Amino acid sequence: MSYHNPYTPPRKSATFDDYTLAEIRRAAATGIYDIRGAGTKRKVPHFDDLLFLGASISRYPLEGYREKCDTSVVLGTRFAKKPIHLKTPITIAGMSFGALSGNAKEALGRGATIAGTSTTTGDGGMTDEERGHSQILVYQYLPSRYGMNPKDLRRADAIEVVVGQGAKPGGGGMLLGQKISDRVAHMRNLPKGIDQRSACRHPDWTGPDDLEIKIMELREITDWEKPIYVKVGGARPYYDTALAVKAGADVVVLDGMQGGTAATQDVFIEHVGMPILACIRPAVQALQDLAMHRKVQLIVSGGIRSGADVAKALALGADAVAIGTAALVALGDNDPRWEDEYRKLGTTAGAYDDWHEGRDPAGITTQDPELAARLDPIAAGRRLANYLKVMTLEAQTIARACGKNHLHNLEPEDLCALTMEAAAMAQIPLAGTSWYPGKGGF
Ligand SMILES: Cc1cc2nc3c(=O)[nH]c(=O)nc-3n(C[C@H](O)[C@H](O)[C@H](O)COP(=O)(O)O)c2cc1C
Repeated sequence: MSYHNPYTPPRKSATFDDYTLAEIRRAAATGIYDIRGAGTKRKVPHFDDLLFLGASISRYPLEGYREKCDTSVVLGTRFAKKPIHLKTPITIAGMSFGALSGNAKEALGRGATIAGTSTTTGDGGMTDEERGHSQILVYQYLPSRYGMNPKDLRRADAIEVVVGQGAKPGGGGMLLGQKISDRVAHMRNLPKGIDQRSACRHPDWTGPDDLEIKIMELREITDWEKPIYVKVGGARPYYDTALAVKAGADVVVLDGMQGGTAATQDVFIEHVGMPILACIRPAVQALQDLAMHRKVQLIVSGGIRSGADVAKALALGADAVAIGTAALVALGDNDPRWEDEYRKLGTTAGAYDDWHEGRDPAGITTQDPELAARLDPIAAGRRLANYLKVMTLEAQTIARACGKNHLHNLEPEDLCALTMEAAAMAQIPLAGTSWYPGKGGF
């Protein structure tokens, strides 16, 4: 006989919570794993766990109206004859045409150009809209080689060799058949309407020595003019940074696990890779150990949303940041104005992540001509430019409050950590102490 205790409400398991139960049922019903876009949705240690100290008696702040605080950055100063000059350290991350509509790519170019920063191509090649509207365009050289052609390498302002992405280090991307329009198929040289998986590693590499050969080839093709970036997912940041530098990279791009993706397995997004907070210090340490900090620039990404995030990344030693998801939101992604349509797709504004299905009501992650036409690239570009301006001003305000006349003068000493985890990962003292756990070694 069971005994019902009237004082104790039914108790759900923290391990088997409602979401987990629903996922088990979904897997049992369909036999298919979940694919989605965007980044990790679980809470992981992040920039929110750090705070700036600001100036006081021992430091004096700069006056906003009279004293200059520079936000510019030069990328690719190591070998390239034509380094990249940006007015703000916030760049637009590589996002593929195919994942994004032509209008969205154009809007990214327009917004970045107004703000004085760069955009980046992605899997699937370079579109004319993008080249035409991006004053500074970085061309990705990816494992898949989809859309790769030497002519576009020369039309670019910099080359980014993609080894991995934060959302899926060690994995490849996906583009489902419904997004393979005639144009996307033509650019990728693959059949229309058929699912495409992007390779997880370069077909002609078996180790770091091959990266060195590849970088040399790319330099020769581009007359040693263009900076060569190497992008890695946040997995082993110390060694990956050191190996990229040894292979001859001008710039290292480090993408943490919060980083967005167009489409991949949910299990990958949520369970592989490290938060960007844990990646920056080891990468900076590698650069310092090789006497290359500030000579080889470090761009970091993965969940960057505000000028505070930018300032914190720079204070930890990065030279610049890249944004993907936040840029899409600025264009109009997940906007509540499309709530009725999100509901019809079984989701809600702010949670929509089925970007691979190509039915985006906001016209951004789609190849459907009618949906894509909803995005006005001029207005969306202006929104992005406004957002980039606000983030730059926010970072500048913080830097001034810390007494810094350039964003790059922000330093770890300007920060304290709110949690033990953040203190350990970012090697920043716990607030109110001069101590952080785990000193020494990675
Ligand atoms: C829609 C979308 C498409 C992407 N496509 C690519 C790609 O083609 N190549 C690549 O290296 N990274 C790609 N990424 C990852 C971004 O370059 C970047 O690493 C990531 O978005 C940064 O994190 P954030 O989204 O939190 O800003 C994509 C991201 C998104 C959101």
